This record gives sequence, structure tokens and C-alpha cells, in this order.
Amino acid sequence: MKETGQNIMEKIVALAKRRGFVFPGSEIYGGLGGTWDYGPLGVELKNNIKKEWWKRFVQSRDDVYGVDSAILMNSRVWETSGHTLNFTDPLSECKICKYRFRTDQITDPKVCPHCGGTLSSPRKFNMMFKTHVGPVEDTAAETHLRPETAQGMFVNFKNVLDSMHPKLPFGIAQIGKAFRNEITPGNFVFRTREFEQMEIEYFIRENDWRGRFESWLSEMHDWAASVGIRNLHDREVSAEDRAHYSERTVDLDFDFPFGREELFGIAYRTDFDLKAHTEKSGADLSYYDEEKKERFIPHVIEPTFGVDRTLLAVLISSFTEEDGGKRAVLKLPIRLAPFKVAVFPLLANKTLLVEKARNIYTELKKYAPVAWDERGNIGKRYYAQDEIGTPWCITADFQTLEDDTVTVRDRDTAKQERVAVTELKNYLEKQLE
Ligand code: GAP
Repeated sequence: MKETGQNIMEKIVALAKRRGFVFPGSEIYGGLGGTWDYGPLGVELKNNIKKEWWKRFVQSRDDVYGVDSAILMNSRVWETSGHTLNFTDPLSECKICKYRFRTDQITDPKVCPHCGGTLSSPRKFNMMFKTHVGPVEDTAAETHLRPETAQGMFVNFKNVLDSMHPKLPFGIAQIGKAFRNEITPGNFVFRTREFEQMEIEYFIRENDWRGRFESWLSEMHDWAASVGIRNLHDREVSAEDRAHYSERTVDLDFDFPFGREELFGIAYRTDFDLKAHTEKSGADLSYYDEEKKERFIPHVIEPTFGVDRTLLAVLISSFTEEDGGKRAVLKLPIRLAPFKVAVFPLLANKTLLVEKARNIYTELKKYAPVAWDERGNIGKRYYAQDEIGTPWCITADFQTLEDDTVTVRDRDTAKQERVAVTELKNYLEKQLE
């Protein structure tokens, strides 16, 4: 059978559910549109992606500072940032079947793609989720779940300046949840109503913006490659499609099985946000350059990454099939794999083998996430670990009882070698490097 994009997505969604990566949200109640839950392996993979990002863009640099700001923010933040007015998608409703569509995502804005009925003229639909803070549900208590993490960085600009005393150029980074009441969520975790972002606001002088934009764009490609995502396509976003705050946006598109779509983005937000917050809050969000004796509001380059879309792109990039499509092997980059190694006794009913394997498992678990499996035959156990991307499987067999060596099987080559139990930690450390 010829593989189609839909086939591949179906296989990935099924694997994700079967092996504990991603489950439909609120499943036992019939689900909740546009929400997904991460299972035991999904949360490990997601955390590893976030760890790699944080290490690369915060910990290994000396010009980027991390924050973790509240999801709920004063409603004036959203008025000032322009989200209350501008964070909208065009929505059309079918006069017959009542289905709703994003007008910019359908071929004919007048005809319902579901029943062929006539669509209403588009209206602006604000995607922010409304909520109330405190026990009184009046308009004074109204605010929104944040639709981007970025504003948490802008409102803390002065706090970071005053506490860390950075010199320009410098960045503030954050990883966290964002919420959007998408009209048409879909394609698994690609477009959801609750998702995570990894964003950097990199503050610069205005005349530096072109060079900084290009160098951040290239850093984004490098990081993607480091987590196994290659062949991203830069797409210049037209003035009419850009967000209200952006003077230049490039989307980094990935070839998902359902088409080429945005994975990351980079925007030149000018001084739009800091200037607006200075005007509306009265706080001084300027920067003083001691050497040049100049005070000004910095401009900003914003590289932005979706965690869930990254996880999906990682799954797609590492999904391979063996034995004529009978079984899957997730060739995950080692640093992202939920388990680095799995340990088995050759036979589950031989106490000495189980004891030996269990000791190895307990010892290795001090250094890395390790899986244990004693079900079924050894071949099935190897395949089960291949399917979740575990790079190495260690088996204690009868020879282990004689010479204290085990077999180590490599996920990608299926080759096995014998390694002394006393050398296992060094062996794995070397591979993990
Ligand atoms: N602060 C800028 C900003 O939020 P965006 O392009 O709207 O820009 C940034 O979002 C990234 O967040 C996207 O590149 C994408 O990876 C992710 N993203 C946006 N909407 C999403 C959704 N509904 N579901 C999953 N990820 C989403």
C-alpha cells in the first residue's frame, strides 16, 4: 500500500496512544475538542525537548535570563499589547448546518465545505479565553488566560534589568502554557486550544535588528537540527498576515504529513510592546547605556517555538518502519529518548537471571531513566523498546552468570556486543556524550 500523509499520521497517533505518549484530553467523558494529555512517555519526551531548549538558549549563554511568569495577568496587559482588539481570526458560520470555519482556511469564503450551504459574512472572533479572578464575576474581575508567553517577559523587563543588571543586547526567555480558543483545532497536537511555547524576547538597539534577526534565524535552524528536525523552510510572512506588532516575520515551516505548516516563527516586534507598556502602565521601561550616556526603549527580536509542534515534528522525523511496515522504530535523538536504556533478564522464570538483571537495572537507574521488561520473549521486548525509541537494550543471560558480561543491543543497527557489567556505566556515559 502506498503511504499517504494520512496513513503516517494515523500510525503516529495510534503509537502515541498505545505506548503512553499522548492521549485524547478528558477521554472517558468523550473528550474535549483541541486538548490532549501527555502520558508517562510523552511527558518525558516533552521535558527532554524543553530541557534541550533551555540548556541551549538560557544556560549555555550569558546574555539570556529565564523567567516563569503567571498565566493570569492583569487585563490591562492584554489591552495594552493589542490582544483585546487584534487577537482575532475571521469566523464564518454556515446558515444551514451551523458549522463554523476559519474563513482564511477555506477555499470559497461563501460556501460551506461541510454541506455546501451559504456561509455568513466573516466576523472577527477573539481567540483569548475569558475568565474571572476572585469570587465576583463582574467585568472588573475579568481577565484572560495568556495567549502567548511573550507578555510575561515584557512586563518583567524592568524587574530583570533591576535585579540582574544585564547589558544590551540581552534576552529574557520563558517556557510555559498558552491558551487560544482556536476555531478549528486539529491535526493531533499541531493546533490545540492549550499548548506550550518556548519564547525569547531579545532586546537590541533599533539599528541592529536586521543582523540580529538573521543570526537568531540561523540559531533556530541549528537547534532544530540538534533535535533531529531538518529541512525547515523559511517563509516570509506578508504584511497583511503579520501580527499587529510585527514589522517582519519569518515562519519556519516543516513538512508535516498533512502539509507544509508553521513549526516556529521569528518576529521583529520593534519597540511596540515596551513602548505601549511604558505609556499605559507609567513604569519606565527604558534602558540606560552607561557608556554612550543614552536612554532609550530597546527594540526586540522574538524567536518563538511551540513545544507540542516540536514534539510532533520530532515524532514524525524519527518514525521509521521495519519488516515491510510490520513494526515501528522511533529513531529518537538519544538526548530526547524517554528511556536511555532497557534492562531484561533473558528468561523471567530464572531467579538468578532476574536478580542479576534487577541489580543492573537498580544501579543504572541512579544515572539515567531505565526501563524494565520481563514479559514475552526477548525479540518482542527488543521490538517494544524500538517502538518507543530506547537506544540500548541490556540482557542478562546465562553467560552473565559465568563471566559477569551482558549483551548490549543497539536500536538503530540491531547489533549486539558483550560488555562487562562493571563497565556498563562508562559504556553508556560514553555513548550519551
Ligand atoms: N509570541 C508570538 C507568538 O505567540 P505565534 O506564531 O502565534 O507567535 C508561536 O505562536 C508558536 O506557538 C507557533 O510557531 C507554534 O509553534 C505554536 N502555536 C501557536 N498556536 C498553536 C496552537 N493552537 N496549537 C499548538 N501550537 C501552537
